[in-house]
Amino acid sequence: MVIIAGSASQETAKNIAKEINQPLASVLYKRFPDGECYVRINDDLKGKDVIIVQTTHPDEKIIELFLLQDAVKEAGANKITVVIPYFGYSRQDTKFKDGEPISARVLAQLIGSNTNKIITVDPHKEHILKFFKTPAKSCTAINQLAQYLVERNVDFLLAPDKGALNSVKEAANIVGCGYDYMEKTRIDGSTVEIKPKKINVSDKHVAIIDDIISTGGTMAKSIEQLKKQGAKKVSAACTHGLFISNAVEKLTEAGCDDIIATDTIQNPYSKVPVAPCISSLL
Ligand code: R5P
Repeated sequence: MVIIAGSASQETAKNIAKEINQPLASVLYKRFPDGECYVRINDDLKGKDVIIVQTTHPDEKIIELFLLQDAVKEAGANKITVVIPYFGYSRQDTKFKDGEPISARVLAQLIGSNTNKIITVDPHKEHILKFFKTPAKSCTAINQLAQYLVERNVDFLLAPDKGALNSVKEAANIVGCGYDYMEKTRIDGSTVEIKPKKINVSDKHVAIIDDIISTGGTMAKSIEQLKKQGAKKVSAACTHGLFISNAVEKLTEAGCDDIIATDTIQNPYSKVPVAPCISSLL
């Protein structure tokens, strides 16, 4: 077995390689003068089972994944598994308005066409797995996040909306603490409203857990409420830390004490490796 680390997922791939004790292939990444992507795999892959690890965000990483898949196939690999730590475009998983595409399905069909197996982490909605034309599975990073929070002495967990409640409940079982949820209404892509709610967080270290931090609006509104209600410390934790534009500033201004994300998207807050959950499906 050989692991190919896409340029969006170098650390995750290294951690998976360590976890399953398999080698990483040497890959050359370059850009042509016009900006187009070039990849070359230096190892012999003939007859081998290959795992490609690549988050499909931002857009250029999607093209890179297609090129890696083709290079692996051309090299005569036996079985190809594609691990997508963060599946970009997965939130457009239905036609919300007339005239829209189902972007998650488009991507799934393209990625799935050159692959034997797909693995992803905490997809926004599970039904996107059915869009792949090849067997697709997901794992959750909630155990890893919860274990990290245990070490941070968190004593209350909060779901910023009902959608995150099941994961937060699971994490609260591991942390051994109480939990609650907020009621969120999304106004538009970057504006949310959170209904005021009395929660007993006075003097507690609260961690808010969500699947994604994108613009930071959801977390910022939740943090403000918790701080107003006397929380001693508030940590914002997520699986996928997109941190679009000024998301980090928004969180800090709202009073966030710690930002925690997994390494599905590489950024300064990728503190929790998802390799253990991915490896369990390999
Ligand atoms: C929504 O359903 C998701 O679980 C997240 O709450 C959302 O994507 C976070 O987005 P933002 O950081 O832009 O508020």
